[in-house]
Amino acid sequence: MLALSLPNSKSNGNGAHRKVRAEIVGWGMCAPRRVMTNDELAAMLDTSDEWIRGRTGIARRHIVSDGETTASMAIAAAQDALQVADADPREIDLVIVATSTPDHVFPSTACQVQDALAARHAGAFDLNAACSGFVYALAMGHQAIASGEHQQVLVIGADALSSRLDWTDRGTCILFGDGAGAVLLRATDADAGVMATVLGADGSGGELLKIPAGGCAVPTTHESVTQGLHYLRMDGRLVYRFASGVLAEAAEQVAHKAGWEVSAIDRLIPHQANVRIIESAAKRLGLPMERFVVNLEEYGNTSAASVPIALCEAIEAGTIRPGDQLVMVGFGAGLTWAAAAVKWRRSPEEVYVSRQRRWWRWSLYQWAHLRSGVRRGLGRLAIWFIRTVEGRDDR
Ligand code: ACO
Repeated sequence: MLALSLPNSKSNGNGAHRKVRAEIVGWGMCAPRRVMTNDELAAMLDTSDEWIRGRTGIARRHIVSDGETTASMAIAAAQDALQVADADPREIDLVIVATSTPDHVFPSTACQVQDALAARHAGAFDLNAACSGFVYALAMGHQAIASGEHQQVLVIGADALSSRLDWTDRGTCILFGDGAGAVLLRATDADAGVMATVLGADGSGGELLKIPAGGCAVPTTHESVTQGLHYLRMDGRLVYRFASGVLAEAAEQVAHKAGWEVSAIDRLIPHQANVRIIESAAKRLGLPMERFVVNLEEYGNTSAASVPIALCEAIEAGTIRPGDQLVMVGFGAGLTWAAAAVKWRRSPEEVYVSRQRRWWRWSLYQWAHLRSGVRRGLGRLAIWFIRTVEGRDDR
């Protein structure tokens, strides 16, 4: 555990109590190496670069290949976030991975991350709220810290929806890409960090965006595979209408909950689904498009990874500065939506990590890998031994 131990409120010396919040102290992202352009899609489908750019704002997307998975991207993004925060992975209390495309139903992707980081004092779980997942997880991480229960929480949004797309359906496959983004949250009693959150859901809209098979309602069978029931299905127009409304509403609600005027939002980081959805929300909120972080052109819709990837890019580009008031909004399948108001404090120029600390963290990851491999091997050996002994008893 981190030496700093904050209760959920702290006296400021005048008898008044200051609230403990979660502050983002580290950030990182991972995009797969393989880039797929609109022209490549146009060679496979009845579509064009012009149509995709004009209707969505997307020019390229990154797609997993050569052993890349949701977990491998999540681990890479998390390692970057720990580097920026110069954190000791053994002091992380909780790992939350927001994903709807985990490597396996179980073990959770969060457990794979926990193991790879040598975060051996951390609890770990996956959270599924589709494209709203990262902001949901941020809210959960904030609550875990504000309750006084935890000091450091690693929050990751990671998805590889390319594995669930029908690459012959031009209405869906053009929209999505793969990636991961991570933030490290740390307890602070300063007037910074997560100031307010809003979570919402409307399960009656579940049919609008769905992967019909693979759960217990429609288990995997030969028929479910041949009927293409494991692919993402979407009613694009209705999802579009839902998204345009909820993005503006959630942003407004969370700003008011934080005590801010909408006009005082310095940067709005929306889920990257379609640039027209973002433009429509900008109009409704009366904010200029320059206040919105948009990176759809490069990544498309990376589901739970889209908000943290946009956040990382904006920080690195210097468009988020200390003192800025940020609003992040996610929306997606469920239907779900979530928003967070964050007062920013760190500047990328402050980030300095010595070569020794980098090397030490790298060694820790190698050690974690080795230790995990040995434990797995010993487990298999123990099973073999027990079976051999049982076999001998039977005789
Ligand atoms: N290329 C060329 N033409 C196309 C393509 C394509 N890729 N896709 C659809 N069309 C055609 C349609 O067939 C239709 O033709 P028709 O008029 O002859 O029938 C025409 O273009 C217009 O189709 P619309 O569906 O009305 O197109 P629209 O302007 O609504 O754009 C889109 C479609 C981009 C899918 C839009 O509806 C959208 O972005 N919806 C929101 C999707 C979204 O954000 N989903 C993710 C939510 S987050 C999550 O949790 C996963």
